[in-house]
Amino acid sequence: MPIVNMSKLITIERHIVEAGALHPEATGEFSRLLRDFMLALRIVARDVRRAGLNDMLGMTEDTNVHGENVKRLDIHANEVIFRSMDHGGHLCVMASEEAESIIPIPDEYRKGKYVLVFDPLDGSSNIDVNVSIGTIFSIYRRIDESSVEAGTVEDCLQPGWKQVAAGYAMYGSSTQFVYTTGDGVDVFTFDPTIGEFLLTFEKIRIPERGKIYSVNSGNAHKWSPGLREYVTHLLRPSDDGCRPYSLRYVGTMVADIHRTLYYGGIFMYPADTSAPTGKLRLVYEVNPMAFIIEQAGGRATDGKNRIMDVTPESLHQRIPCFMGSTQDVLEVESYLNT
Ligand code: AHG
Ligand code: MN
Ligand code: MN
Repeated sequence: MPIVNMSKLITIERHIVEAGALHPEATGEFSRLLRDFMLALRIVARDVRRAGLNDMLGMTEDTNVHGENVKRLDIHANEVIFRSMDHGGHLCVMASEEAESIIPIPDEYRKGKYVLVFDPLDGSSNIDVNVSIGTIFSIYRRIDESSVEAGTVEDCLQPGWKQVAAGYAMYGSSTQFVYTTGDGVDVFTFDPTIGEFLLTFEKIRIPERGKIYSVNSGNAHKWSPGLREYVTHLLRPSDDGCRPYSLRYVGTMVADIHRTLYYGGIFMYPADTSAPTGKLRLVYEVNPMAFIIEQAGGRATDGKNRIMDVTPESLHQRIPCFMGSTQDVLEVESYLNT
């Protein structure tokens, strides 16, 4: 697949406005929300680029709600997103990987009809070694759209099929922004010389089948026999040349999903004997990525059920995940469910 399929020059701002214009009933609130969010991403992208220079690197003394070490850049990205989004009047509540409970909109600001959930910095173990990291987000409508009161935890615990928009920014060799509003997936690339995200791939489609698998094989001794058999199968050469598969694992979900989107194949974070629900979080990691993958024509399940049909019970709930090319995900399911 080519990396760029656009000849027209279109900025993200124009793209958002034009998409809004297709919905005459739209008030423009959603477009303004996205505009504010893009500002946050520009700032985080800038600070990620400078991370090695201004002492942003290194651990804080703190651990996050999951008991993991938190890098300073995680906290910083969390604050930048909060400060860009709290006062716009579009949101009624937020939730983040870096906050144990929901993040309320301060009393002095208007409460809007949208909900934002996010992983401010994904791939934090890669920060110090200059490997790609990202930001993941998704947007919902609040449950009671007529309310002007503060949003609640229930607003943040809606099933993924109710997402209004989702996506991620990847801070890699370039900064890219990939998002969907339920009408396909578009990719924008940041041009730092003009300070704009330009559309570089419109309506990207994931290949039906790939030749790459992505999983932390260090956990193989804890996997189910079915999953071990599946990976053994991928590594066995076939006469038609479709196997063996190559292994690629960055350890940043954003980067592993991004590659899967372009090249196809499968990304997995399965359950294992020490992590019975896997590692990744349903609300702000797996659901947004499931929406992207499905909108690109792929498949995203927990090994059995569609991810986006699951109703979350808590903000930081984990879920096993298998996502990517439809044929690859169907194949792993057949191994897991026999
Ligand atoms: P985060 O940095 O937001 O905590 O997420 C890290 C996640 C995800 O990006 C990645 O796919 C996974 O952790 C890697 O986990 P392992 O190191 O267990 O493979
Ligand atoms: Mn993450
Ligand atoms: Mn994170």
